[in-house]
Amino acid sequence: MTNIKHIYVIGAGTMGNGIAQVAATSGYQVTCMDVQSAALEKAKAAIAKSTSKLLEKGTITKEGKDSADAIQFVSNMDTMKDADFVIEAATENPELKFKIFKDMDANAREGVILASNTSSISITKIAAQTKRPDKVIGMHFMNPVPLMKLVEVIKGLATSEETLAATLELCKVMGKEAWEANDAPGFISNRILCPMINEAIFALQEGVGTKEAIDAVMKLGMNHPMGPLTLADLIGLDVVLFIMEVLHRDLGEDKYRPAPLLRKMVDAGYLGRKTGRGFYTYK
Ligand code: CAA
Repeated sequence: MTNIKHIYVIGAGTMGNGIAQVAATSGYQVTCMDVQSAALEKAKAAIAKSTSKLLEKGTITKEGKDSADAIQFVSNMDTMKDADFVIEAATENPELKFKIFKDMDANAREGVILASNTSSISITKIAAQTKRPDKVIGMHFMNPVPLMKLVEVIKGLATSEETLAATLELCKVMGKEAWEANDAPGFISNRILCPMINEAIFALQEGVGTKEAIDAVMKLGMNHPMGPLTLADLIGLDVVLFIMEVLHRDLGEDKYRPAPLLRKMVDAGYLGRKTGRGFYTYK
């Protein structure tokens, strides 16, 4: 990884700022880009809070915290030409991601790897938007990024072995454990996780149990760190719905149909923690 010094992250939301933070605390120079200045301000505050906590706990070093404090926040791709590795973590919207990958391809130096943190969009399709499909790969981090060990790594049809090897090595340097998944709808994580959450929402809708009971049964009975409805609030109900729609459409099976209550909540704008209200309310 000696040739990778500067990592460029696109998107300053929960996933983008988490990835930028972990890249910085792992010793990389980091630039975090978002078109919304409010998102950049929020990201700066979230990274400061998280790194202070992790330094206090001894999980990161003083140098790691200093490196995170030095993250550059920018609102355009002008400095992408200086980057050695680019990770896209924008909103989970195919058209938006396709446009961003075209722009990344135009702005990043030749040979630089372009990774996507997509949770469900085909890496093969994303790669086809660029003139370097061999250099495009999925790098799916988990929320909250600073605490979760896993990165799911996904090769598209054209992704080269060199790109895979460099990405696996980067995950290692970032202190993550990488596991490979095929470029199939939802990859491994969301093929399994989102139907479980969707089923919990069906159970709530059908009155099988209260939201507290459903969460408690999965927490206390299955040792899950969070109940599925609490987890849905953390992920974002719009993201869960989007992933269920991808599974339903691309796998063509009824068992993946989104729960009507999930759709209704998204229609109401109850998206979970990020809007202050989902299955639970947040201040
Ligand atoms: N940075 C630093 N510290 C953080 C943090 C962050 N981003 N987020 C939480 N913490 C801290 C908390 O402040 C707390 O600190 P104290 O002990 O000092 O109070 C500590 O971590 C533990 O947090 P909590 O007490 O709130 O809760 P917890 O013990 O349950 O741990 C958790 C939190 C690690 C998030 C745990 O609940 C968990 O593993 N939950 C499941 C998360 C999960 O499944 N994530 C994957 C979602 S799927 C996804 O991301 C992919 C997708 O495509 C949808």
